[in-house]
Amino acid sequence: MLIITKGLPGSGKTTWATAYVLALAGGSAARVNRDSLRQMLHAGRLKGRKTESVVVLIQLEMVETLLAQKLTEIVDDTNLNPSTEARLRELATRLGAPVTVEDFTGVPVEECITRDLKREHSVGARVIRRMHRQYLAQPVRYNPNPLLPPCGHLRH
Ligand SMILES: Nc1ncnc2c1ncn2[C@@H]1O[C@H](COP(=O)(O)OP(=O)(O)O)[C@@H](O)[C@H]1O
Ligand SMILES: [Mg+2]
Repeated sequence: MLIITKGLPGSGKTTWATAYVLALAGGSAARVNRDSLRQMLHAGRLKGRKTESVVVLIQLEMVETLLAQKLTEIVDDTNLNPSTEARLRELATRLGAPVTVEDFTGVPVEECITRDLKREHSVGARVIRRMHRQYLAQPVRYNPNPLLPPCGHLRH
């Protein structure tokens, strides 16, 4: 089984994934995370297009190997970008592994920022707010005439 976590930095994905791995005795679950791979491969320093494409390739190889061994595999990245999720789902489907999403998107953005600030390698409020706007905030509906309700509310 592949478990994909989804949520802002600081929402608790890695904490949950680590607890899950610890709870399943005998190494039957494993966690793969691109931040950890970046840290391991390039001391967390390099984040260019070239290094990132290698990180993604290595992650997919690891996921494939773990799923082929019938382990429960948790990818505890943010996975908010739909193309990231699609890539993982495609791989799991090819290997015949079921997919579930562990959803952390309900953790309020301010709480994520507070938790993030307390940890050693902070992502920072700016990045978290940008991701929130990009993937989680409700789209603001344009109302050409503020005296009237937005179009969706008009009755015909
Ligand atoms: N449920 C929770 N309640 C309070 N703090 C939490 C919770 N889950 C995680 N944290 C704390 O928040 C910080 C970020 O957690 P982490 O699991 O690394 O988030 P993520 O992997 O989503 O970026 C850590 O310091 C962690 O101890
Ligand atoms: Mg994490």
